Amino acid sequence: MNGDAIRVLFVTPECAPLAKTGGLGDVSAALPAALRQLGIDVRVLLPGYPGVFAAVNHARELARLTLFEPPLASRLLETRLATGVPLMILDNPPLYRRDGGPYQNASGEDWRDNGLRFGLLSKAAAVLGSTSSPLPWRPQVIHCHDWPAALACAYLHYASGPRAANIVTVHNLAFQGNFDPGMVASLGLPPASYAADGLEFHGRMSFLKAGLVYADAITTVSPTYAHEIQSEACGAGMHRLLQRRRSVLSGILNGIDAAAWNPATDPYLPHHYRSDALERKRLDKQALQDRLQLAHDPDDVPLLGVVSRLTHQKGADLLVQAALELAALPAQLVILGSGQREHEDALRALAAHAPGRIAVTVGFDEALAHLIEAGADMFLMPSRFEPCGLNQMYSQRYGTPPIAHATGGLTDTIVDYSPGTLAAGNATGFLFDQPTVAALLAAVRRAVAVYRERDNWRMLQQNGMARDFSWIAAARQYAELYLRLAARRGSPP
Ligand code: ADP
Ligand code: GLC
Repeated sequence: MNGDAIRVLFVTPECAPLAKTGGLGDVSAALPAALRQLGIDVRVLLPGYPGVFAAVNHARELARLTLFEPPLASRLLETRLATGVPLMILDNPPLYRRDGGPYQNASGEDWRDNGLRFGLLSKAAAVLGSTSSPLPWRPQVIHCHDWPAALACAYLHYASGPRAANIVTVHNLAFQGNFDPGMVASLGLPPASYAADGLEFHGRMSFLKAGLVYADAITTVSPTYAHEIQSEACGAGMHRLLQRRRSVLSGILNGIDAAAWNPATDPYLPHHYRSDALERKRLDKQALQDRLQLAHDPDDVPLLGVVSRLTHQKGADLLVQAALELAALPAQLVILGSGQREHEDALRALAAHAPGRIAVTVGFDEALAHLIEAGADMFLMPSRFEPCGLNQMYSQRYGTPPIAHATGGLTDTIVDYSPGTLAAGNATGFLFDQPTVAALLAAVRRAVAVYRERDNWRMLQQNGMARDFSWIAAARQYAELYLRLAARRGSPP
């Protein structure tokens, strides 16, 4: 990295494959790699969960940090990700080395001390961006991802002396990190920060709000979502604040890791295929059917795939309600996901009711996720809201047209089928306007009709496979933003 490269600390609670519960893990792996290709000196800061140490062979100690009162001693370790991107690990065994996920224990309950766990991550990031940093490497920009990192913006606001500029990226406004107001003092923030124009949010202290109030720039992961969150319906209580801050708010559409998600080379697939040899995709469909004990139905029975967190956001309840009608089209339905217990149970019951037609796998399974993208004929995403969404981009690349609610990033990445959009070479999937069972079923029926017109379906698949969803466009926009903020901030810490 040349000495003039702009220095950016990328602060995140997830980074695939070391820690991933959803799209943020994918983004935190791929975006820094794309930024380094543009010559940005970006380094990732991640808590030292057990999965991080299991995947990392050797990490060198960079510094020790003693933060908060009573003091919490942590180590800062350095290693590299598989992509070559430097990774700093915030190692605090009592807080992070626990069995379970980044935010929850094995039973799916939030860790009770999440305020402290991610307050520490945020505080460590802010220290590294200020003159009190123990490191010679001083970031000019701190890039905070979602609420677990967002409190860094408040710490930097209250720091003295030269300090890094900061950005908060909102991957999902519904996750806000709201805690007891007593945390303001425990986390070493001044009492004055707990105010309506500061951290206070309906009687709680809010990490995400701290980011939205204090960051130099706010980004979110698609232009449509950036617009939607300024409305009462989608603003999760923060829409007025976002309206006030709209001059620093922008939407930068996520990309996908085009090497990891490529049907011509994907190591998880038993059969590889390209857009000019799509008949081979059928072999993956059969492999998927065999793996899940589904019948080899005739070719005109489409297989509908879902890979998703099973939550209200993702419309899991709509899938539950629509499943039997979908199966009766006829179609096969394959669902992989985990999330709210009621949806998991309802889906399992449906699978038991329609064996050979509906297959439900509850859990997190990277290999099966890839096989569903390849083996399905169509991919369903009835999300009520979707900041960006990655699966609809994966599915287009795999020749598996998505059927999705027209919201957020789904609107920005899918071109709805019509004879006109197909003739223009643009159509890539099917969008529906309302997150209802009726609208979902109508869109699937529309898709099934096109599926039976083999040539048109082939064109739809090929249009999707030809789309460029690589990270480079997004990385350029982030790089421009970093440069602008660093120039405005002047001398680094
Ligand atoms: P979100 O982050 O809101 O869950 P995204 O579409 O951005 O939604 O990203 C979801 C990511 O997580 C994708 O890479 C998807 O394949 C993956 N994923 C979600 N659920 C599972 C699962 N049960 N097993 C494997 N991968 C999953
Ligand atoms: C969030 C959003 C999802 C987005 C992902 C990565 O989890 O729910 O829409 O794709 O973050 O930005």
